[in-house]
Amino acid sequence: MRLYYKTVRGIVRAVDDVDLNVEPGEAVGVVGESGCGKTSMANAIIKMLPSNVALYDGRIILDGLNIVELPEDEVRRKVRWRQISIVFQGAMNVLNPVIKVGHQVAEPLIIHAEMDRDEAYKIAMEKMKLVGLHEEVFNRYPHELSGGMKQRVVIAMALVMNPKIVILDEPTSALDVSIQAQIMNLLKKLKRELNISMIFITHDIALASDISDKIAVMYAGQVVEIGSAEQVLLSPKHPYTQKLLKATPKLTGEEKPEFIPGTPPDLVNPPSGCRFHPRCTYVMDICREKEPGRFEPEKSQRVMCWLYGGENE
Ligand SMILES: Nc1ncnc2c1ncn2[C@@H]1O[C@H](COP(=O)(O)OP(=O)(O)OP(=O)(O)O)[C@@H](O)[C@H]1O
Ligand SMILES: [Mg+2]
Repeated sequence: MRLYYKTVRGIVRAVDDVDLNVEPGEAVGVVGESGCGKTSMANAIIKMLPSNVALYDGRIILDGLNIVELPEDEVRRKVRWRQISIVFQGAMNVLNPVIKVGHQVAEPLIIHAEMDRDEAYKIAMEKMKLVGLHEEVFNRYPHELSGGMKQRVVIAMALVMNPKIVILDEPTSALDVSIQAQIMNLLKKLKRELNISMIFITHDIALASDISDKIAVMYAGQVVEIGSAEQVLLSPKHPYTQKLLKATPKLTGEEKPEFIPGTPPDLVNPPSGCRFHPRCTYVMDICREKEPGRFEPEKSQRVMCWLYGGENE
């Protein structure tokens, strides 16, 4: 799938040929630096696009339907919230301050499922309990809740129509570590009990490792490495993944975290060839000239890097 934006500086290639597969009940972690296209990918999947889209194409297949080509009214009727829902980045901070949170959780049912209020409230209350909120929270306003409680509210909202897939875009980034741990435990519980699929977006690869069965590493609008969490964490293949892991502080061992040299690329004019080549310690001539193919150094671990397939070209 691809999603480009029009800007005064030129075309921003935010999602550039991303390929991702999510199985039922599976959690896929999507990790990468700020601006690499994680949120854009999430918006592409549920087809919530800004007005300055320059290109949106490819295939996003759910039960045989291609969301990319599906008319908006069908996306609304069949897909968005019902099949795939999302906890937007920063959603807990944009709860409506003058509406009780219980009503806000029930709103998708009233608006999209045309349910009557009592029935919608009943389901909203159930979902709020499911995410660990006490009944009396239903009638509170957002300012009367802690950050962790607000995050639970937006998760309840995403679950209210029993979707098969939930996209969580940086769901714990605004929370302190102890609350972050509570929310991670909640997400793990929901995954286990509801057998729901999750796309868990974060800039923090250590956090992704906590819940993900599979990890996709994004760099400059592309998935440069994908594999099982074990493969990506224990045997990372792409030099960028290796740097990301070295940049993560560890409790044990003598190793100091390293920083990734250079700056993230400009998505209006991405580097030629491999987009990571200006920052890569293993750079070869071909990396500057030709975009790497997708190679499989290990079964089900796919990498966009010439180190793993140069001789096949
Ligand atoms: N509506 C838009 N118009 C133009 N450019 C955009 C738009 N939305 C995002 N971008 C640009 O697209 C690129 C990818 O942005 P995106 O928000 O998807 O990144 P991200 O990985 O989610 O970053 P973060 O970790 O900071 O949330 C960035 O260069 C961003 O500036
Ligand atoms: Mg984002």
